[in-house]
Amino acid sequence: MSNKKVTIQDVKQAKKENRKLVMATAYDYPFGLMADEAGVDIVLVGDSLGMVVMGLDGTVEVTMEHMIHHIKAVVRGCKNPLIVGDMPFMSYNTTIPEAIANAGRLMKEGGCDVVKLEGGVDFAPTVAAIVKAGIPVQGHIGLTPQTASALGGFKMQGKDARAAKQIIDDARALEEAGAFSMILEAVPAPLGQLVAEAVEIPVIGIGAGSKVDGQVLVTHDMIGLFDKFVPKFVKQYTKIRPTIIEALKNYKQEVQQESFPTADHSFSMPEKTLEELKKIIG
Ligand code: KIV
Repeated sequence: MSNKKVTIQDVKQAKKENRKLVMATAYDYPFGLMADEAGVDIVLVGDSLGMVVMGLDGTVEVTMEHMIHHIKAVVRGCKNPLIVGDMPFMSYNTTIPEAIANAGRLMKEGGCDVVKLEGGVDFAPTVAAIVKAGIPVQGHIGLTPQTASALGGFKMQGKDARAAKQIIDDARALEEAGAFSMILEAVPAPLGQLVAEAVEIPVIGIGAGSKVDGQVLVTHDMIGLFDKFVPKFVKQYTKIRPTIIEALKNYKQEVQQESFPTADHSFSMPEKTLEELKKIIG
């Protein structure tokens, strides 16, 4: 799918054709370039950047300005993937006109293709209004990190039948409201499958089992760049952090021992010029 610009029609079509969607986060230009080169379908500039890039405890403090700054950088690096800009906490939770204005800012100022917001039944009217304004919306249900404290922490959702049924209702409400796809986070795998079967739009899982329409992971988790804590649903495909620390330690040692830089990493000056210079400065 990703040797050309991915559209929301491509994303919807993938479910019809039973092709799994691949989504990963990026927060800056180099990671945008790498996600593009790796051929992921959808790049999420997630507000998880609050934790994995800014060192905050959660996503609540992330602002519109932070998101626009990071979306712009990713957009410069990504040619083909569909780019999703995450709406930060309180940018869509107050009034519908404010939600539309902020969704518009992420697209106009940031340059993302679509926006994502957290919430199901309660936020369906907001989703419908943003979609009506011409901005495609991806929903996010199950564990919604921006309201994790209200959910009792970063915990699996849909544990009992009533809570699970509510998540299916949330998915249906988002589809009804016009969302083109949704993220489903941290639910039991059988519920993931039921949610995916309950709607026609793609359900992209993170900790929702394999029987959904695609997967998303936070890239910094998946490559072991951020390992303060590793959620159960994260697979670390590499552990890049020790490699980077090792490189920095080697650099430190070589600078201190004066074995870096050598002539290979220095600019030379013709002997004659050096002699002349020495005369001038006495
Ligand atoms: O912000 C983010 O990275 C997300 C993912 C966890 C889906 O919302």
